[in-house]
Amino acid sequence: MGALTAMVRLRVDGHEVEVVAGSSVAAAIAHAGATARASVSGQRRTALCGMGVCFECRATVDGRAQQRTCLLPVAEGMEVRTRG
Ligand code: FES
Repeated sequence: MGALTAMVRLRVDGHEVEVVAGSSVAAAIAHAGATARASVSGQRRTALCGMGVCFECRATVDGRAQQRTCLLPVAEGMEVRTRG
């Protein structure tokens, strides 16, 4: 990563993650090694379509539940929760 690349820090499930500015929150979740939501039967889900159609990438972002993270750009200090 070049020194001129703008980076953004956010937290995913309490873990600090640093990603390139302009990345999606879904990419930050993947970078953190996490998955997105859990299904009603408890199976972990993750981004599938990457374009806002499948809703598999939902997570809580800055206290707002059920956000489609593939459509959200990261922001400095953002808090993402993939569980609960
Ligand atoms: S990955 Fe399909 S809606 Fe986000």
